[in-house]
Amino acid sequence: KIIILDFGSQTTQLIGRRVRELDTFCEILPYNKFPKEDPSVIGVILSGSPFSVYDKEAFKIDLDEIRGKYPILGICYGAQFMSYTLGGNVEPAGTREYGRANLASFDKENPLFKGFEEHSQVWMSHGDTITKLPEGFKVIASTDKVVNAAYQAEGEPLWGVQFHPEVFHSVQGTLLLKNFVVDICGSKQDWSAASFVDTTVAELKAQLGDDRVILGLSGGVDSSVAAVLLNKAIGKNLTCIFVDHGMLRKNEFKNVLHDYECLGLNVIGVDASAKFFKDLEGVTDPEQKRKIIGRDFVEVFDAEARKITDAKWLAQGTIYPDRIESLNITGKTIKSHHNVGGLPEEMHLQLCEPLKWLFKDEVRRVGRQMGMPEHLITRHPFPGPGLAVRILGDITPEKVRVLQDADDIFIQGLRDWGLYDQVWQAGVILLPVKSVGVMGDERTYERAVALRAVTSTDAMTADWAHLPYDFMAKVSNDIINKVKGVNRVCYDISSKPPSTIEWE
Ligand code: XMP
Repeated sequence: KIIILDFGSQTTQLIGRRVRELDTFCEILPYNKFPKEDPSVIGVILSGSPFSVYDKEAFKIDLDEIRGKYPILGICYGAQFMSYTLGGNVEPAGTREYGRANLASFDKENPLFKGFEEHSQVWMSHGDTITKLPEGFKVIASTDKVVNAAYQAEGEPLWGVQFHPEVFHSVQGTLLLKNFVVDICGSKQDWSAASFVDTTVAELKAQLGDDRVILGLSGGVDSSVAAVLLNKAIGKNLTCIFVDHGMLRKNEFKNVLHDYECLGLNVIGVDASAKFFKDLEGVTDPEQKRKIIGRDFVEVFDAEARKITDAKWLAQGTIYPDRIESLNITGKTIKSHHNVGGLPEEMHLQLCEPLKWLFKDEVRRVGRQMGMPEHLITRHPFPGPGLAVRILGDITPEKVRVLQDADDIFIQGLRDWGLYDQVWQAGVILLPVKSVGVMGDERTYERAVALRAVTSTDAMTADWAHLPYDFMAKVSNDIINKVKGVNRVCYDISSKPPSTIEWE
């Protein structure tokens, strides 16, 4: 495997995903947690960082731990850090360099640039620049502005690149990573969905034997794929629980239960909406709503799970990005997302997380590999607290009904117009304002809703989706005509950051 040491860059996860796309297993670890004793490591990548190498608080490592033992590739800060630490100079670039650049020259003989075209476009994002390389290092690529755009330590498998090969705008970035991971580090490229299913099913069989396992289904792709994988391994010994908190999409509880039954899963559906509505009555604070839903969810799930008296394991659809230890540079919580707190300890359940090494796109590939229906696999992400975080202010069953109807028109419309798969996530927000309108000869004074659709690759950043005007006109018309209580539709054109995807 390849180890990616994270120095806090926004694009570290992207490096991981690119390496996995090369059918190569990799792990992302905090910069100071290199696994010294792991014999399966074949190479190391050092990520970028928000810091400058000469900042007092900059993250530093002892290069002797890895140098001379594995091939190393430093990206941006990673490149600057190695250069700086080994005797070179790094200085502020004067102006921050951000955006497209082209390689004005590069060493065609260097294995890192095998197959590169002249003037290959690369993506820069840095405030510092390497002004002098350490002794024995040679420049292997330059752009018009950056002389030391890439270097190698002579006679040593140690490279640094100032640009970001992991981002889409570095046109041959994937080739560079392939040259490093496959040719230089010698990856056998044997990490694939098919091999994952085979080895995981075998491991689960060995780990679980005849034990009974409980799994909480949410309707989302992660828990669904986890369930199908476990079902393949242990069949009837898996019991799934699917809780309806009353704030799912229109007909979702019924439809998803039906899907699960078709997949042959042993699933118990629990309609607990009355309890959730009662406990949420009058609550307006977003964090408070999340807490109540999280707490009630655990209570309902727990009561159901206790009926399965011989259960030994609790399975979850946790995926790799949920677990990557983040360096949390700002130390602030923006939203508390993880609302399933887990079960009481006295149940003595052991945790089983079969997808814990996978990125989202890999989870989807595994689902397809097992023959799951496409609509389950490509389903948009949906927040755990559901429509509760899309009703600004207090929640009532009536508001949920209005929102479900509007949301259903929007989502169905996206499907009908072939736009659903082009957006990462979409939904409708019920606003706590009323506005004046006119219908027939009547004055109306009704609610406003906002449509939200975003493009994204990981929900960390997102842009508002540029949907066709004709489509928006149709959706707006349908919502106002068909959803009683709504007389105004807006479209949210904010990106993340500085906004977030959800409104609460
Ligand atoms: P934000 O609003 O932070 O959302 O840009 C990023 C992603 O997380 C989802 N989200 C949640 N998921 N519980 C969840 O399970 C939550 O409380 C929650 N809040 C936001 C959101 O839908 C988007 O995919």
